[in-house]
Amino acid sequence: MPQQKKEYLSDAWKDGIFKDKVLFCTGGAGSICSAQTRALVHLGASAAIIGRNKEKTERMAADIATARPGARVLAIAGVDVRDPKALQDAADRTAKELGSIDFVIAGAAGNFLAPLSQLSANAFKSVIDIDVLGSYNTVKATLPYLVESAKRNSANSTDPTSGGRIIFVSATIHYTGLPLQTHVSAAKAAVDALSNAVAIEYGPLGVTSNVIAPGPIGGTEGMERLAKSDPESVAKSSKRVPLGRLGSVKDIADATVYVFSDAGNFVNGSTVVVDGGSWRVNAGG
Ligand code: HXC
Repeated sequence: MPQQKKEYLSDAWKDGIFKDKVLFCTGGAGSICSAQTRALVHLGASAAIIGRNKEKTERMAADIATARPGARVLAIAGVDVRDPKALQDAADRTAKELGSIDFVIAGAAGNFLAPLSQLSANAFKSVIDIDVLGSYNTVKATLPYLVESAKRNSANSTDPTSGGRIIFVSATIHYTGLPLQTHVSAAKAAVDALSNAVAIEYGPLGVTSNVIAPGPIGGTEGMERLAKSDPESVAKSSKRVPLGRLGSVKDIADATVYVFSDAGNFVNGSTVVVDGGSWRVNAGG
């Protein structure tokens, strides 16, 4: 049963603004990235979602495709973002089957709660590899397509339409520090740095690179894990947010639409923090 648009996207956006655009999204079967993808698909885009788990990725792609009649959503499963060749194949397949790659969301991430004393070097490396190397592999595989998209969309125009855009999904926990999250904090700081460098190096070619940093978002895997470790943590978290509630995946979807839309044409090398003001008053967001 398709969801009603207003459950996952603001009414502020015009239908069709992403017509003929193609999104490539790693981690697209997860709670946050699937919401970002659904929003773009609703507004006219085609999409490829990249995941490790076949059943989960295919089920999510079929579900996202119900957001708009005639939508094309490709499930590319069995891909570990730590494998550059698998990602290159996924990018090439997306461009071949959907026609181009205009937008990239580097969203695949690994996380678990662990005290530093119990974090092996391999555990630390696993998260760094998924988040940092995986994000690098994602942009490396898709940048040639993004450069083409930027060229196409800005050709002979003083009012370019968007194309050649990257969003890295990061976090706010590394702004201050958070116990049990040393590995993720280090990884997300590196992801932010990667985005900034790509923004400067590829800006002259018309490609923009930005970070979306979600704060405490309800209904996500991360929040469910927190609730398992302390059932009252979700209620406590929402009370600590200056806006008095947890964020929703819809809040992240709306920020994504803004950055990828023509309204975001001059936004580059930025971080859009979507956390209700949380990190400014709470260590670790
Ligand atoms: C301590 C742990 C552990 C835990 C795994 N390890 N879980 N150590 N506490 N809870 C250790 C293992 O013992 C092993 O080290 C090493 O990590 C690698 O584990 P594998 O299972 O072999 O790795 P892999 O299959 O690659 O799995 C990666 C993973 C896993 C990160 C460990 O959790 C995963 O696949 N996650 C993907 C899905 C996910 O986490 N999504 C959430 C994203 S939310 P040894 O030394 O024994 O070999 C998110 C939000 C971030 O990212 C923002 C936070 C606010």
